[in-house]
Amino acid sequence: MKPATAIKAAKPSVALDHSQLFDVSVTGPLTKKRCINLDNGASTQPTTAVMTAVGNFMKYYSSAHRGNGFKSQITTWAFEEARVGLLRFVQAREDQHLCIFTKNTTESVNLLAARFPFVKERNVILISSMEHHSSDLPWRKTGHTIVYIAINKDGTLDMDDLQNKVSMYGNSLALVCVSGASNVTGILNPIYKVARIAHSVGAQVYIDCAQLVSRRAIDVKDLDDPEHLDYIAFAGHKMYAPFGSAVLIGRKDAFSGGTPFLDGGGAVNIVTLVNVTYKEGAEKEEAGSPNTVGAYAMFIASKQLQQITFSAIENHERALMEYALPKLQKIPGLKLAGGYPVDLGTRGGVISFTIDNIHFNLVAAILGTDLISLRENFIRKDINNKIGYIRLSFGLGNTFTDVDLVVDALKKIVHGEYKFKYIQDEHGEFSAAGVNCDFSAFVSLDVEPLKHPTRMTLKTVFLEWKEKGKKWMKIHPKLR
Ligand SMILES: Cc1ncc(COP(=O)(O)O)c(C=O)c1O
Repeated sequence: MKPATAIKAAKPSVALDHSQLFDVSVTGPLTKKRCINLDNGASTQPTTAVMTAVGNFMKYYSSAHRGNGFKSQITTWAFEEARVGLLRFVQAREDQHLCIFTKNTTESVNLLAARFPFVKERNVILISSMEHHSSDLPWRKTGHTIVYIAINKDGTLDMDDLQNKVSMYGNSLALVCVSGASNVTGILNPIYKVARIAHSVGAQVYIDCAQLVSRRAIDVKDLDDPEHLDYIAFAGHKMYAPFGSAVLIGRKDAFSGGTPFLDGGGAVNIVTLVNVTYKEGAEKEEAGSPNTVGAYAMFIASKQLQQITFSAIENHERALMEYALPKLQKIPGLKLAGGYPVDLGTRGGVISFTIDNIHFNLVAAILGTDLISLRENFIRKDINNKIGYIRLSFGLGNTFTDVDLVVDALKKIVHGEYKFKYIQDEHGEFSAAGVNCDFSAFVSLDVEPLKHPTRMTLKTVFLEWKEKGKKWMKIHPKLR
């Protein structure tokens, strides 16, 4: 184990200015203060640059791959540029890897599990015990033998266990699945070492990059390199782009031949009543109309991350972690997942903890009422809904003030000093009694009225009919 980094309590400098990157105008209904997102591990707010680019793109929006019109051509071009751009973002070569667009990371893994080139003699899949459900459950459906890799007490991957299991299963091993960064502890796994170990027996690797993509640069490497990554997945909504778009970047040879995960238009070349000829490459795996706006947004977000630079992002996260950890540690009854001190060399900006004798859902509900959103109860639940962590996950929009606010709020919770009475429902969730909010005051469900109505309202149709009817009746008095 590496020595823990000395943690300073002093406020270090953060290079990034959140108000330049994001629209920070949203305030809550009760305190009228800025809403704070400390749940970046779940979803990151799109940056202003992404929102502007998407807004501009919308006027050119048309069908991709299916039209000859000017707008269709622009849309198709932007979609394909996004594909190449995202391959380059992770240092992938177009002749070795495909970039397949999906709707989220979960769909990417399901697609891979359905299309993975299993061979008869290799029927074992090794999965780390820290995986998100999406990196675990789709593999269970394949019918192959699933074996879990242990994790150490501090939450890191047990590399000895990995090595032993890889040696034990050897030529029976098909795949090793490990996340680049854990969604629970933020631990950054040594993915290139994992790849080297897996490749030593001819197995392949799938690295879940959902949490890693916005935190560290990814390099899938050349397929000849023993540390290459065969398959990776990540989504727009965790890299400062909106929901609804994600990628599976995987080795090309795995997807040649066979039938796609989803069947339908866009994936096929020729369809007769008895025969189907599929396209080759990524399009074969993208049946149906693709989310071109989402793909474009991911590409713009990836360019912005590169522009900010991953070293600035790492410094920003580290500064917030160094500032937050000693403060949190001093809160009575607060226990960090993975223990303390924390080796910041192996951590992204995620802190999970429990507080003695206070339900995690209650903590989240109180903070949420006070405008601070974080994640609670996000790990495998026990049957009584009793096991759960509270998670703070930092992103580019967070500041030292956010840390101060959450630490102060947690101190108050521990001392029972919070407003409102909280009631627990039958699902274990808490909410503040008597506090209701009219969400439609923030996000309208109405359509803006047209300034120059092009369509007639029922009233105008009726009046017109009455007018015309009268004239008509004058012309044909017999029918009166
Ligand atoms: C590590 C990890 N993998 C996968 C997922 C699933 O991602 P998505 O919501 O894009 O399907 C998440 C979501 O939180 C995650 O944290």
